[in-house]
Amino acid sequence: MKKVRIALLGLGNIGQGVWRILNTNRNEITMNCGYEIEVARVLVRDRNKIRGVQIPKEILTTDINDIFNDSGIKIVVELMGGTEPAREYMLGAMRRKKHVVTANKLVLATRGEELFKAADEEGVLFYYEASVGGGIPIIREINESLTANRIEKLVGIINGTTNYILTKMTHEGMDFNEALKEAQQKGYAEADPSSDVEGYDAVYKLAIMSSLSFGTKIDLSSIYREGIGNIKTVDIDYAKRFGYVIKLLAIGKETDNELELRVHPAMVPKTHPIANVNDSFNAIFVKGNAVGDLMLYGRGAGDLPTGSAVVGDIISILRNNVDLSNLSSQKNGTVTKKVRNASESSSEYYIRLDVKDRPGVLGEIAAVFGKHDVSIFSVSQDVKNKHNVSLVFITHEALEGNVAESIKEIGTLDRVNNLENIIRIENFN
Ligand code: NAP
Ligand code: HSE
Repeated sequence: MKKVRIALLGLGNIGQGVWRILNTNRNEITMNCGYEIEVARVLVRDRNKIRGVQIPKEILTTDINDIFNDSGIKIVVELMGGTEPAREYMLGAMRRKKHVVTANKLVLATRGEELFKAADEEGVLFYYEASVGGGIPIIREINESLTANRIEKLVGIINGTTNYILTKMTHEGMDFNEALKEAQQKGYAEADPSSDVEGYDAVYKLAIMSSLSFGTKIDLSSIYREGIGNIKTVDIDYAKRFGYVIKLLAIGKETDNELELRVHPAMVPKTHPIANVNDSFNAIFVKGNAVGDLMLYGRGAGDLPTGSAVVGDIISILRNNVDLSNLSSQKNGTVTKKVRNASESSSEYYIRLDVKDRPGVLGEIAAVFGKHDVSIFSVSQDVKNKHNVSLVFITHEALEGNVAESIKEIGTLDRVNNLENIIRIENFN
């Protein structure tokens, strides 16, 4: 049996998952790729840290040159996270003719172009299946199975941490911070969990998927972003009352050569399959002009699911034969398509206001919506205290710009205390 030596950069949640899979499934992996895989080196920050896996201390190193200068190491697997030194180390590995696998969506979304170029120049493979959707094989699906299609739409739950938090808040009435703490303990959250909670992690993943699906470069600032920090138990309860569930959605669409790219919480009908994607599970709907609608579903975060995608990439490289060069890495967009401004997109909206309980207030607000061409589907009123009520409007489909203008004007009305929340409703029409 042929042997291949590889190196891991990082031995945290995912690095340990990869180590476990390589050991537990050693026989299957060897049979599937025709190589015995030896982890020759593992780069860490602290060699003395207690790890959740038993690993010979002599293979741990804090010096990247131990990996760069070992010409016997053919594949470098980056599982450190962050932009630097991950970018520098991956480039360094490619320049030394080593193939690279990564799970790092941040570096791909921000510095991907440079890495793809270097991989092409050096004739090495650069695979990144684990960067989107954890264990779900979405990158390979877009790149290979669906490559005969023009992809029209992507809608996904692509962040496990926020889906875990929203699930716990919805089904167990758990407090936001408690649910986040659990997600961190389970190894789903990023080192800085605000990247998950504020929607940045989903933005990076949407950028990677959209670049592949729509064949375009993506400027991250063109993706509209809202996180889940503003979702309150009361919104979750209203959603239930109206037949919805709140999810953090990532949406990418192409119409008339223009893209719409957004990440935000949305109310989705509780009867839709996406409403039942719970905990750390992710789901991605893809609409292709030939295949029609399809959905991929699976664990979007965690050591073994993510490790499964990483080891799958290692095996793909080995099947392509590590010693061959001039192999093509997964394609990414080269042109730049126009991204529509969020104000030009349209949706139905849930709008919750805190108002003074006085005659005429409802009419006043309704008149403002009417003036800005926002049509009301329903309104509910709940008493908050002796003088104030909660008013919840559900609109028909309206232009985001018109809704924003209405809200601005409603905020100036004397009898309106506060705009409590505004959440899009995605009915998948
Ligand atoms: P993690 O638990 O924080 O582990 C990071 C590892 O990298 C640690 O072992 C750390 O060493 C090492 N490291 C960090 N900076 C280093 C440096 N400058 N030099 C040497 N070693 C360094 O992170 P993780 O959750 O495994 O995530 C790893 C990557 O996978 C990230 O890009 C993340 O976005 C991605 N990802 C994560 C998940 C998930 O569910 N967690 C899912 C999909 C993708 P020490 O242990 O010595 O500190
Ligand atoms: N922090 C990410 C998530 C890890 O929660 O989805 C998977 O990319």
